[in-house]
Amino acid sequence: MAEFVKDLEVLGQNAREEIGAASTLPTLQEVRVKYLGSKGKITGLLKQLGSLPKEERPAVGKQINEIKIAVGQELNERREVLEIEAAKPKNPIDFTLPGRCVKVGRMHPLTQVTEDIVRSFRRLGFAVAAGPEIEDDYHCFDALNTPADHPARDIQDTFYLGTEGRQLLRTHTSSVQIRVMKSQPPPIRIVVPGRVYRRDTADATHNPTFHQIEGLYVDRGVTVGDLKGTVEFVFKELLGREVKLRFRPHYFSYTEPSLEIDFSSPLTCKLGKEWLEIAGCGMVHPRVFENVGYDPDVWSGWAFGFGIERIAMMRYGINDIRLFYENDSRFLNQF
Ligand code: DAH
Repeated sequence: MAEFVKDLEVLGQNAREEIGAASTLPTLQEVRVKYLGSKGKITGLLKQLGSLPKEERPAVGKQINEIKIAVGQELNERREVLEIEAAKPKNPIDFTLPGRCVKVGRMHPLTQVTEDIVRSFRRLGFAVAAGPEIEDDYHCFDALNTPADHPARDIQDTFYLGTEGRQLLRTHTSSVQIRVMKSQPPPIRIVVPGRVYRRDTADATHNPTFHQIEGLYVDRGVTVGDLKGTVEFVFKELLGREVKLRFRPHYFSYTEPSLEIDFSSPLTCKLGKEWLEIAGCGMVHPRVFENVGYDPDVWSGWAFGFGIERIAMMRYGINDIRLFYENDSRFLNQF
């Protein structure tokens, strides 16, 4: 019996060493078969139990079983380790190597300016609205109290689609004022960034397509003072404290009174202009309110339209509008 127990210990020891030395899953499997398979060494010992005297069998049997369980456990643990090893990539990435610079894209300068303006207005409680670029003359002109003989409607100024002349590429974002007011009751506080189209030939300051941001505020008792305060707040946020704004009387058929906004900053002066026109605005004309079904005796409001390119040119000191549309990465990478 002492002999048997000694053999058992040696066997356990050998098994442990072989398990530790197995460096692949197939070799480990061979070790498992060698010791625990149906013809394995430990299994063999169990079979020999019968040859021992009856009274010794329980104690020896217990020992063999303990070894069997221990070896089985070690085999399983080793298998887990080897499985993790096997799952590792063959050519692992070395994260300590120096990185290669990848050029990521960035927002177009016009998008950056638009987002900054929108952010300022959002802080004042304005929501963003949108409308179609292919418009009809009702939303673009008629509902905005723009008479049939207004030059903006001229075929020289506007891109009409088809022959009937009702569909056109919107000449301004003001058409969205009508769409929004028709779709909901006052009060309203919206900004509408978007692309607009005019029959301009491209030169340093004009392009047949450009971007505007429209604003509309309708409530009870809204005044020109609200308009000036709001516009000043946004421009100072956008272009700096030193910006000066000037409101000049003007004419738009959808506002009364109408104003144009000029602004002046160290940058405009650098570009050789003390004042630069950037927006039209005014108090919403009572006839526009009537056209959308609002009672002009109850509601008042202001509206404006900024040219986004103008603002971007100012902000970044750009003197040719065409640079925005050429997609030259040498230009775009600067923003
Ligand atoms: N729609 C005008 C333009 O394109 C700008 C404008 C002027 C918008 C006055 C307005 C406004 O909302 O009230 O030049």
